[in-house]
Amino acid sequence: MKQPEKQPFFYDITLRDGNQSLKKPWSLPEKEIIFKRLLELNVQAVEVGFANSSEMDFEACKYLASIAPENLVVSSLARCVESDITSAVKALSCASIPRIHTFLTLSPFHMKYVLNKEPNEVRKTAIEAVKFAYEQVKKTNKNGEVQFSVEHFGDCGENIDFVIDTLQEIVKAGATTINLPNTVERKRPRVFLDMIEKVYTALPKNISISLHNHNDLGMATATTVEGYFSGAVQLECALNGLGERAGNTNFYEVAVALHNSGVEVPVDLSKIYETALIISQMSKVDIYEKAPLTGPDALAHRSGIHQDGALKTKDMEFGAYRPIHPSLIGRKDDEKIGFTSQSGKTAIFEIISKAGYPITIQEAIRLAPVVKEAAEKIGELPTRNIIDIYFNEICNIKGVFKLTKFDHIGEGKFVLEFNYKDKDYKMTGSGNGPIDACMDALKQAGFERKLLHYKQIAMDEELLGSGANAMSVIHIEGDDGSKVIGRAIHKNTAVANVKAIFNAYNLIYKD
Ligand code: KIV
Ligand code: ZN
Repeated sequence: MKQPEKQPFFYDITLRDGNQSLKKPWSLPEKEIIFKRLLELNVQAVEVGFANSSEMDFEACKYLASIAPENLVVSSLARCVESDITSAVKALSCASIPRIHTFLTLSPFHMKYVLNKEPNEVRKTAIEAVKFAYEQVKKTNKNGEVQFSVEHFGDCGENIDFVIDTLQEIVKAGATTINLPNTVERKRPRVFLDMIEKVYTALPKNISISLHNHNDLGMATATTVEGYFSGAVQLECALNGLGERAGNTNFYEVAVALHNSGVEVPVDLSKIYETALIISQMSKVDIYEKAPLTGPDALAHRSGIHQDGALKTKDMEFGAYRPIHPSLIGRKDDEKIGFTSQSGKTAIFEIISKAGYPITIQEAIRLAPVVKEAAEKIGELPTRNIIDIYFNEICNIKGVFKLTKFDHIGEGKFVLEFNYKDKDYKMTGSGNGPIDACMDALKQAGFERKLLHYKQIAMDEELLGSGANAMSVIHIEGDDGSKVIGRAIHKNTAVANVKAIFNAYNLIYKD
């Protein structure tokens, strides 16, 4: 698809539409924190409030306009009422680019049942208000602008020609941005976008078409993203999708979807995740578990197939089961691998390795049925439970060999006591250290095996517990010449080594 010529223009409405929907609207210091986050995100315009709605909002608009950078469009909402417009102009007088955002419905339903007015009367009010706003804002600042919104534009399908005609007059009256809100999302995006395209085609090309989609049916992001490809340049979005009812269009989703579509997005995407957490805290609106991009579960994989694909593509920009690399939005937590009854060896391998313990994929295969059985009972297993199973099943194998004693009795000599299939053995082994002596004692008892390799893996005491700071790892040759790994932990290294040998033996010798 051909890319639109103009870059998207992000007009943020968190501080107005988002704020008005909060159970506790923000104070000025809170608004300032969010305003500064918006600057860090590099938005192009901020609607800082509705100046005439309260003294508090007026002061907030005034203050934020006074600290706004020169290239930022700062806007205040105003009904098509002189006092609202005058108040907005006054509040924004310090901004380099003040914008008066005035609005009125042109929807037949709304004009009839809410305003109780004839369409021509409404049209006249809108045109006069825009004219007034234009004169007033230009008086204070030659860079001043007027935006007009057709409230409930989404409901204007049946009188679209009237709307277009009115908008042409509104443009003549001085508005340079025409916002076409889906004030209540009722229909499918294509129907709405056909209307957008009609307006876009009918208005002069220097007019910026803007979208403001509420998310009542969960399609606001889709409509906004596609709207950009239908001629809209200004995209009105809110951080965390805050806004009336089901919210406004989610800023992050639109920015990332456009980025993924090859559009040069003039926003610092790497600030998204941190911003989302801050906004959630400040609005007291949780980011729901499954929220795209920023939800706690948005990067979690639980099915074995997905876990396998995710881990194989973990460090790649394009992931098998994710829309972006988490770092794009500054998300540091990796793709989360959670173990449920649907998961498999790959998840065990990843979880145990990530927790800091050595494991091979063969060991993960061996653990899988035990971990799955536990997950079937309780659902997603906490990492701690998986580690406990690892210790029980890998470092403490219960089998036919039971070690009872291992004592050093003199130069290179050790006594080994153990039980094999209900028979007790007491053997003296000798050799170059405890491992050799233990293998020698086992050989004398009729259990000769080849020792392939031995090592100690130094580990944090906290990971191992019981005062140990290393894991003994012994490789013994299995019946088919394979390498069988025994692992054990004990604060006495000699005991850890012998336990590791017994763990390996218990894997080789079965009932
Ligand atoms: O949803 C809406 O229609 C609005 C307008 C005031 C732009 O918020
Ligand atoms: Zn709105």
